Amino acid sequence: MSADAEPTGPRMRVIAIDGPAGSGKSTVARRLAERLGLEYLDTGAMYRSVAFAAMAREVDLADSDAIVEVARTSDIRIDDTAVVVDGVDATTQIRGPEVTRSVSTVAAISGVREVLRVRQRAWAVERGGGVLEGRDIGTVVFPDADMKVYLSASSEVRAERRAGEVSALDYETVAADLAARDAADSTRQHDPLSQASDAVHIDTTRLSVDEVVDKLIARLG
Ligand code: DC
Repeated sequence: MSADAEPTGPRMRVIAIDGPAGSGKSTVARRLAERLGLEYLDTGAMYRSVAFAAMAREVDLADSDAIVEVARTSDIRIDDTAVVVDGVDATTQIRGPEVTRSVSTVAAISGVREVLRVRQRAWAVERGGGVLEGRDIGTVVFPDADMKVYLSASSEVRAERRAGEVSALDYETVAADLAARDAADSTRQHDPLSQASDAVHIDTTRLSVDEVVDKLIARLG
């Protein structure tokens, strides 16, 4: 057996993409997955789904144990077009202002992260790999990923991108929410957003999606 052969099981190909909101993760991950013939998972949608389920069940956000129970018992189905939580189509609501404001609180709870981490790993194992994007994919969920990517962009451009997606909110509101969420996601105690030391860092401020994807495919060789 050669030195780099896998000792057990078929080889999984995992690509981990992390970065703050509006850095281009979802669009880049989706297009990269298409180009590589892999499936794609938006792990932020999983955290948003737990926040949605907690609100639907009227659970107090300050009650961490109850939120962990929501994470453990909620049925979250995410595919290319829809997010269904406990049988309810939550595709639009998980992107709405209420969920967006509460999701950092939910994502800071270590028990919630543990439950979702197990689901994220299982998702990749079931598919023989995939492209996963989030905040802790390269640092915590798949530290041995085949390629780790960290995307960034200026805070102005990130807020402009998000404001373009959420037409009901003005730029200032989106920029303020984004700054608050960045601060919460980067300073929390458990799995804060950070760049893995061996991640490929791309600043997407002035790049198109295809330019970013081309750079990543070139890195993969
Ligand atoms: O990517 P997004 O904005 O949809 O993510 C929603 C929130 O979920 C974000 O504020 C941080 C959290 N999150 C996380 O903590 N870990 C991940 N792997 C993905 C998202």
